[in-house]
Amino acid sequence: MKTYIDKILQKPEFSRDDIIHLLSSTGSAAEKLFRRAEQVRLEELGNGVFLRGLIEISNVCRKNCLYCGIRKDNGKVRRYSMPQTEVLEAARRAMEEGFRSIVLQCGEVSGPAFTRRISSILEGIRELSGGKMHVTLSCGEQSEDTYKEWLEAGAHRYLLRIETSNEKLYRAIHPDDIGHCQKGRLDALRSLRDLGYQTGSGVMIGFPGQTVGDLADDLVFLKEFDVDMVGMGPFIEEKESPLYPLRHQLWTGSERFFMTRKMVAVLRLMMPDINIAATTASEAILPGSREILIATGANVIMPNITPPDYRADYSLYDNKPNTGFSRNGRFRAFTLKLERSGYRLLPGDPGDPRHFRRKQAGIPAPSGVAQA
Ligand code: 5AD
Ligand code: SF4
Repeated sequence: MKTYIDKILQKPEFSRDDIIHLLSSTGSAAEKLFRRAEQVRLEELGNGVFLRGLIEISNVCRKNCLYCGIRKDNGKVRRYSMPQTEVLEAARRAMEEGFRSIVLQCGEVSGPAFTRRISSILEGIRELSGGKMHVTLSCGEQSEDTYKEWLEAGAHRYLLRIETSNEKLYRAIHPDDIGHCQKGRLDALRSLRDLGYQTGSGVMIGFPGQTVGDLADDLVFLKEFDVDMVGMGPFIEEKESPLYPLRHQLWTGSERFFMTRKMVAVLRLMMPDINIAATTASEAILPGSREILIATGANVIMPNITPPDYRADYSLYDNKPNTGFSRNGRFRAFTLKLERSGYRLLPGDPGDPRHFRRKQAGIPAPSGVAQA
């Protein structure tokens, strides 16, 4: 007999209520969701897993997001900004290791000197890789002119998480000032898309005050905005952050991870051909969770290739795990585990989201949920 979950999973489009139902599922219903997500992922994208080497180039930030460990007002952080030569050296090493895709991430800084610094790094990477290394930037909200300059200097993709689609909640987790306004963030995301970046966004899952309905709205937002890439992970309490005193309101770690898994699965069904990352934050809650997310619809992982001396200072939240890359050791174990469950790492593939390529070619995306 068909259950309610079976019926929802067969629909070509999910309503908000369907999404809430899926995100509220437990036990065998949740297992059905996970299996369906994996099936759609394999049908649409095959068993490949894209790799992006993550370089955290600076932890200097002008912002004060209430959840973040490197917010401007956290005086306990040792601030760093990697010299350009070291960033280029890290990119060169990544190239030698076989990576063809890196992410440059930093706290948010603005101004002509910063814009120029990033452009110069991008030009350096283009030169040293002969244009083969694809670069994703994650450098926060900037003017359209800055985004344009970086695109021309060689950036391909941009990640800018909206954190939440709910305006009230956005205000609750950010200082109430002009520098932290949701409208500005959404405008920035729109200009990235309109300029022609492969555009990524995402949300935090399970922060204080957030409901399942809010998370369903987040998924609807990502679909309507037509993002190419998504990174979303569980909220993690951070001792030095202003949200820390609200930690008693949080779902447990395993509940936050379970919800993350369902968010990834439902999004895969809603947007079969986008790139979805298995994020580091999940690892902080449950070691080994990236493999689980890969088997639930995610298709990207981002090993940290920041030079070890800087890594501990990029502490967005407590217990941020060391998801580093190495030929041997833990990364090797991770690779073997993925291979045993039938997946294949594709380090030499720059990993353009199929969704983006289809849009460029004017081909419509697969319509929502595939037929059972
Ligand atoms: N828990 C989970 N994710 C966090 N981020 C920042 N602080 C936290 C936290 N405490 C995420 C945000 C941001 C990204 C760089 O890191 O989503 O966009
Ligand atoms: Fe800065 Fe990003 Fe942290 Fe906000 S989340 S304080 S913008 S590093």
